[in-house]
Amino acid sequence: MNITEWFTSDIAIDLGTANTLIIHKGKIVVEEPSIIAMNKRTNKVIAIGTKALQMHEKTHEDIRTIRPLRDGVIADFGAARQMIKGLIGMLDLGNRLFSPSHRIVICIPSGITEVEKRAVKESAEQAGAKEVFMIKEPIAAALGIGIDIEQPMGSMVVDIGGGTTEIAVIALSGIVCDQSIRTAGDIFNRDILEYMRRQHNLLVGERSAEAVKKGVGSAISELDNPPEDYEIRGRDLMTGIPKVVKVSYSEIAFAIDKSISKIEEAVLKALEVTPPELAADIYERGIYLTGGGALLRGLDKRLSLKTKLPIHVADDPLRAVVRGTAIALGSPKRYRAVLMS
Ligand SMILES: Nc1ncnc2c1ncn2[C@@H]1O[C@H](COP(=O)(O)OP(=O)(O)OP(=O)(O)O)[C@@H](O)[C@H]1O
Ligand SMILES: [Mg+2]
Repeated sequence: MNITEWFTSDIAIDLGTANTLIIHKGKIVVEEPSIIAMNKRTNKVIAIGTKALQMHEKTHEDIRTIRPLRDGVIADFGAARQMIKGLIGMLDLGNRLFSPSHRIVICIPSGITEVEKRAVKESAEQAGAKEVFMIKEPIAAALGIGIDIEQPMGSMVVDIGGGTTEIAVIALSGIVCDQSIRTAGDIFNRDILEYMRRQHNLLVGERSAEAVKKGVGSAISELDNPPEDYEIRGRDLMTGIPKVVKVSYSEIAFAIDKSISKIEEAVLKALEVTPPELAADIYERGIYLTGGGALLRGLDKRLSLKTKLPIHVADDPLRAVVRGTAIALGSPKRYRAVLMS
């Protein structure tokens, strides 16, 4: 691996199931939902990111919106390639894009297969990168929230994204033990969607369910500072007519309760298999929550009751991974151990 010097055209990418972020010259320059809209007949890309999300679930027969990543893995290779290329294309790299110094560090879900890794790498190469390195998501998350990953000191990071919840114990620049489950933000949305159908006879879309989750999502049924009830729009299953229903945070807590329990169980399992000396470190330092799911109200309280450990929610949990990826990009020699080619 020849990573001695890095240049200003280098970029760090967090390729997430829900969101893709890019850092260039130390700044976040792309922060877009991981979605692409294509013309079904010509297979041409119509929109990428926010614009494509606005079209999602509102398309006619000629347009198809695709989320290339699902459950933390690449579900549609072609679309993933187009999306990566398109998002890199949003950057103003001038003619440096094709200069030989252009290198990319890209954060990938840790459950990704070799074939998928190759696909990601190829997409980045097609976008003009001379060299592509990859970093595992929990490592990037830990770096991004300021954990000194090189120390002989155990840190537990729980990253709850759109597709996966990754729980990892990190020490000496490596993952000592981890758990990855496919219960995360997308599943919470589905729980809410099903709850609205069952309880309120209301058919809602994926995006509306997500808006409810952000508006009044909660992991516990009694909050100290409860948010106001949320109005959700959809179609009445009985009459077929559009209608509005008000939902409270405790209803959402009920709707996603089983999924939150799965995350709790995975955290407990990860603690169980942690070697004792590292467990002692975690006992002292607590658990760090990152990813968009960390923003769920009351999740820290619930996990702390379950584990009896202090829980720290990262300051800016949606950007922790891309920040960590950029840190590795900035000091490639120091972080050689965690950069994969
Ligand atoms: N305020 C919020 N409350 C609850 N969930 C939220 C909030 N904000 C964002 N989310 C959820 O966080 C998820 C996105 O998080 P993130 O960007 O970390 O995922 P990702 O990195 O794209 O996915 P993955 O890491 O699984 O590939 C989405 O499911 C989104 O609905
Ligand atoms: Mg992520």
